[in-house]
Amino acid sequence: MQRVFSGIQPSGVPTLGNYLGAIRNWVALQNDHDCVFCVVDMHAITSWQEPAALRTQTREMAATLLACGIDPVRSVLFVQSAVSAHARLAWIFNCVARLGWLNRMTQFKDKAGKDREAASAGLYVYPNLMAADIHAYHATRVPVGDDQRQHLELANDIGEKFNHDYQVEFFPRIEPLILGPAARVMSLRDGTKKMSKSDPSDQSRINLTDSADTIAQKIRRAKTDPLPLPATTEELAARPEARNLVGIYAALAGIDPASVLTEFAGSGFGTFKDRLAGLTIEALAPIAADTTHWLADPTQLDTLLRAGAERARALADPIVREVEQIVGFGG
Ligand code: TYM
Repeated sequence: MQRVFSGIQPSGVPTLGNYLGAIRNWVALQNDHDCVFCVVDMHAITSWQEPAALRTQTREMAATLLACGIDPVRSVLFVQSAVSAHARLAWIFNCVARLGWLNRMTQFKDKAGKDREAASAGLYVYPNLMAADIHAYHATRVPVGDDQRQHLELANDIGEKFNHDYQVEFFPRIEPLILGPAARVMSLRDGTKKMSKSDPSDQSRINLTDSADTIAQKIRRAKTDPLPLPATTEELAARPEARNLVGIYAALAGIDPASVLTEFAGSGFGTFKDRLAGLTIEALAPIAADTTHWLADPTQLDTLLRAGAERARALADPIVREVEQIVGFGG
């Protein structure tokens, strides 16, 4: 069975983008893969996080993943900072990756913004830690949204350079799994911007904890254009907001975007948005309820995460110890 690894930052409430682009696919992969899923708090602090909020959000993220259907028995579910192998391997990868490679990372440029000098050094080497997360488990498949594609290419470059420099066949190649019509869900306010849990505008996203009324209201207010829905997907190319809503509908209904248009061609956004809101509420209401249920018993949640960390350590420690031997650490 191939090993899957993926992670999510506890830097806010997870969004519909996280769900459709990643988490939903993680849940499906559990059926035929050996899965390791991680709440990446070490990644989160590359941007400032209030300590108390980070602790709460880490628990909330774990609760949400369980509510979405991550099964803590079949899969290993844990918090990154509880497993030191990630930090140890990340340091070695800091010494393998080249500055030139990191300079090309578009996400660093986006996140650091204009004031690059003020960004943390952690934000800059973030992709090295991400490569370490995956390679510490010898994972070969990584389900992510489209925005992580470049980071996974870098993780492969790092694995390859390590193998080459140390003359070993140690790190396997990673295959990105970027799946479905919602691999890049866009903001509800601007169809050219990614939907993000850290966007200052709450109206730009649907949170997995939003009430039915809030979801319906956000979808009703979502930016669109004055034209009716077209008959073909080609006609969506220059209409980013329309394309986004059609993609979300397709992902939630389990059909392709062309079939959505077969049903809605010629109709205005009013009817379409009502139906989309219905589908979204149907998918998210049970998740919100189940998240609340998990959060009601923090002791149970913490016990479960501690057990997950122990299983993760048992997988990653021997691999990272071997890496340390390869580079010449220890006696
Ligand atoms: P993060 O926390 O930003 O997002 C978690 C997952 O959700 C996907 N995603 C989206 N998919 C579709 N549309 C969107 N608008 C959208 N926004 C987010 C992301 O692609 C991701 O799959 N660097 C990662 C976390 C990470 C990781 C890893 C992932 C750390 N180590 C190792 C895979 C393997 C991140 O910031 O994800």
